[in-house]
Amino acid sequence: MAFRLLVTAGDGIGPEVTREAVAVLHQVFERSGRSLDLQEKRIGGIAIDTDGTPLPQETLDAALSADAVLLGAVGGTQWNALPPNTRPEAGLLQLRAALGGFANLRPAFSIAELASNSPLKLDVVSGADILFVRELLGGLYFGAPREWNRATGEAWNTMRYTREEIVRVARIAFDLARKRRRKLTSVDKANVLEVSQLWRATVTEVAADYPDVTLEHQLVDSMAMLIMTSPRNYDVVLTENLFGDILSDESAVITGSLGMLPSATIGGKVNLYEPIHGSAPDIAGKGLANPLGAILTAALVLRHSAGMDAEAVAIESAVRKALEQGFRTADLARGNTTDFTVLSTTAMGQKIRELL
Ligand code: IPM
Ligand code: MN
Repeated sequence: MAFRLLVTAGDGIGPEVTREAVAVLHQVFERSGRSLDLQEKRIGGIAIDTDGTPLPQETLDAALSADAVLLGAVGGTQWNALPPNTRPEAGLLQLRAALGGFANLRPAFSIAELASNSPLKLDVVSGADILFVRELLGGLYFGAPREWNRATGEAWNTMRYTREEIVRVARIAFDLARKRRRKLTSVDKANVLEVSQLWRATVTEVAADYPDVTLEHQLVDSMAMLIMTSPRNYDVVLTENLFGDILSDESAVITGSLGMLPSATIGGKVNLYEPIHGSAPDIAGKGLANPLGAILTAALVLRHSAGMDAEAVAIESAVRKALEQGFRTADLARGNTTDFTVLSTTAMGQKIRELL
């Protein structure tokens, strides 16, 4: 049966990195003899300019009838003045809500060949392998009321969670911890926030069903530090929506570049796949973008939606091989171009397909 993938490349570097990820997928499907039924639709700023809305109905319908959705990135400076609910980012949030995936998996890992590129010391990062499970449909991103009242000069957002929303994402995190090093760190701000007290109590309750997994709680502020000082101490890290947004970007430092990290959102009607980086308008169209985050995201599509784990592993090894052989995009070379062969976005994509 054909695998139906909807690609929403979006804005900035979204189209250029997604193009490389899609080329890798074409190659994988061709070789496996399975057919790939690929559709492309607009989302984000490009959709605002063309269709007057960041998530056109056509895109939403196509997403809901696909087997998986692969997104590039949304946003850009020309839409910065818009209020939050009409911005490119709102299209992504509406898509996330409609697809229903509530568990956003964000691996942050050290790759030996890149460790020297991390601003952190080699002996601190080497061997680090964290899997963030970020709750994606609750908290401040979706809580009501939300408003900026210009007349009174007040604005508010609401951090709200229900017990059920916490239970379901906690179960996914515990299940994943079971397949890894059996340690789960739950992040909250329970010394200040009622929502976090509910979070901590609920995660502790769920832990009773997972006696083989060690649960620890950390406050988000100290966790931000601990991830940098001792990243190897962490296995699965469970967070609410905003805390996970912040900590996962911070953890990109472990890998050496935000451009390396993939994500998969599971648990809903259709899984959504996005590299964690943004649209990087400053480097868009210059061939400087790192396509490896998008390519590793394509590997997650194969693993979590297409039942093609062996092919996912093959993509991941091709990426490792390219790095081993000294190939880098500009973000990974950090000025040190003598030891490396620095490739453009398309040349890196080509290299991965060659090594695959
Ligand atoms: C991310 C991004 C998004 C988020 C934005 C673009 C809405 O930062 O995927 O991490 O905040 O979730
Ligand atoms: Mn983010």
